Amino acid sequence: MSSVRKVTEDLYWVGANDKRLHLFENIHPIPRGVSYNSYLLMDEKTVLFDTVDWAGCREFLKNVKEVLNGADLDYLVVNHMEPDHAASVEEILIRYPNCQVISNEKAFMFMHQFGFDVEGRKDEVKEGDTRCFGKHTVTFVFAPMVHWPEAMVTFDTTNGVLFSADAFGSFGSLDGRLFADEVDFDRDWIDDARRYFCNIVGKYGPFVQYLLEKAKTVPIQMFCPLHGPVWRKDLGYYIDKHDKWSRYEPEEKGVLIAYASMYGNTEAAAQAMASTLCRKGMTNVAVYDVSNTHVSQLVAEAFKYSHIVLASVTYNLQIYPVMYDFLHHLKVLNFQKRTFGIIENGTWAIKSGTLMKEFVEKELKECLVLNSQVSVNSSANESNEPEFEALADALIASIGK
Ligand code: FEO
Repeated sequence: MSSVRKVTEDLYWVGANDKRLHLFENIHPIPRGVSYNSYLLMDEKTVLFDTVDWAGCREFLKNVKEVLNGADLDYLVVNHMEPDHAASVEEILIRYPNCQVISNEKAFMFMHQFGFDVEGRKDEVKEGDTRCFGKHTVTFVFAPMVHWPEAMVTFDTTNGVLFSADAFGSFGSLDGRLFADEVDFDRDWIDDARRYFCNIVGKYGPFVQYLLEKAKTVPIQMFCPLHGPVWRKDLGYYIDKHDKWSRYEPEEKGVLIAYASMYGNTEAAAQAMASTLCRKGMTNVAVYDVSNTHVSQLVAEAFKYSHIVLASVTYNLQIYPVMYDFLHHLKVLNFQKRTFGIIENGTWAIKSGTLMKEFVEKELKECLVLNSQVSVNSSANESNEPEFEALADALIASIGK
């Protein structure tokens, strides 16, 4: 028995699922696990597209052996050298001594850096080169910084399959399903896909745009990414999501309220703002406590919504550290093009509002802070009502534009 799935008449998924890993890249929680996708083409020549993380190597090797069914492995195409896909390259080379490695100059340099012995087995390709394996001819399209500089994608000109590397991937273990149309993607997967994209590739939006432009020039029928489901239907839905995310355009008109609260008073102010917005008819509101929400989720929600309210207590005369960390992540990920509202709190020397405004205006590209601001002294009371009303009105007016 194995976990192999047939992708097309002669292409097989031979990857592995990992539900034991808690933190992807040792930083991002993945409660639904992750898949490391590898694909094996059984043409006149046998061709493996990428390998898997060490954690999935056993399942992967078993899958490869089963599909080969006694045949030798002729080629391994390495589209991306990050170890969640390339850790098992050497294991393949040891087990299949006649296998040649097809990849690009930079990837071979990284193989050397990681200590892989590929001497005498390298077939180096350049952008636009082709290789014919029998019925199938593939072409190589370089995709630098999606998500490492050596990354490339491989397009099968025979059947329109795009081996898209990290592009069009998602967190989440496949658990037997292979195709996006075998799950309710928009209900059960999109949040993980967004969180994967924004946190892993989000910084490189212009490079994703460059790849999307290149993709328009070839007749793609199927995305075979290195993580998550394979796409064979409704590709436009997923392309549109990636187009928005990589242009830093929101998916939805709505308000993310992210609050940092020590004793519940800033939390109460955040909830009061949510209620004020909803009472006024803006009900697409999401409220998160930055102290108990992983920053990867906060980032993904920031990418989703058009407007963001930052509510922070003042801490050591600074922005509350966890809120600052969230803002720092947004900056590092090149986050842009949003309108912010500010709620500040403090019992003395209230500084967080001024500092958050400064951060947004100086550190985030094309981001605007609304003039209306709520300033709370320890806890919000009736005297703050006009400020809540004014900020809610300003947000709704801005959303309506
Ligand atoms: Fe899934 Fe950039 O590796």
